[in-house]
Formats: sequence, C-alpha cells, structure tokens
Amino acid sequence: MRRWALARLRTIFGIAIAATAIHAAGSSMAADVELGRYLSSECTTCHGAAKTDSTIPPIHGLDRGHFIEVLKAYRAKTLPNEAMRSVAARLQDDDIAALAAYFAAARPR
Ligand code: HEC
Repeated sequence: MRRWALARLRTIFGIAIAATAIHAAGSSMAADVELGRYLSSECTTCHGAAKTDSTIPPIHGLDRGHFIEVLKAYRAKTLPNEAMRSVAARLQDDDIAALAAYFAAARPR
C-alpha cells in the first residue's frame, strides 16, 4: 500500500473512532434518564400525587445536586425516615444519578 493511502486510512479511522465516542457519550446520557424513568415507578407511588397537605414532599423538578445528596444521606441513614432509608438502601450510585437526572426534568402526572 502506498504511504499516502495509509495516512488517509488512518485519518478516516481516527474520525470514525471519535464519532463513535461522541455517539456513545450522547446515548449514555439518554440511557441514564431512561433508567431513571424505569426506577421512578417505585417512587411515584408515594411522591406522585403530592398535595399541599401531604407530608410527602414533591420531588419532580428537584435540583439534581440536592437530590443526589439527600438520597445518599437516606442511604447512609443520616436522615431520618424509615421509608426513604429502605428505598435508598437498594440504590447504587448509578441508580441515584439516573433518578436525579430523570426527576430534575420530569413533571408530575
Ligand atoms: C413509602 C413512601 C415513599 C417512597 C416509596 C419513596 N419516598 Fe421519598 N420520601 C417519602 C417521605 C415521607 C419523605 C419525607 C421524609 C421527611 O420529611 O423526613 C420523602 C423524601 C424524599 C426526598 C427529599 C425531598 C426534599 O425536598 O428534600 C427525596 C429526594 C425522595 N424522597 C426521593 C425518593 C425517590 C427517588 C424514591 C424512589 C426511589 C422515593 N423517594 C420513594 C416517602 C417515600
């Protein structure tokens, strides 16, 4: 193979790898929200129809950072609430991040 052809092949290959990487980053964001949506059904049995007279706070549209902090605090049992502690105990860091991403953009139905 001629030298120029090899160089060209390398360039094309490099672009393909970069494009794949960008695509993967994009779809992993989307996958997070999808995972969050999937996990959220357990949460909305309590948090779905939050009314003003309810003791269950609304979590739709909650700030992502706050959401993650609070869920980890329930998991570490530094926040008091048995329901939330047992829910959070079953969540991995990735699940919490996915839920935070989903709820930050979600509206209650
Ligand atoms: C059994 C009912 C119940 C379920 C199921 C439940 N929660 Fe909760 N959650 C509560 C209650 C009650 C509180 C308020 C606790 C308090 O005031 O101490 C709360 C508080 C929270 C808060 C704190 C809100 C704030 O403004 O700081 C977040 C975030 C939260 N829940 C997220 C979730 C997520 C995510 C799920 C699903 C994985 C979930 N909850 C499932 C009852 C529930």
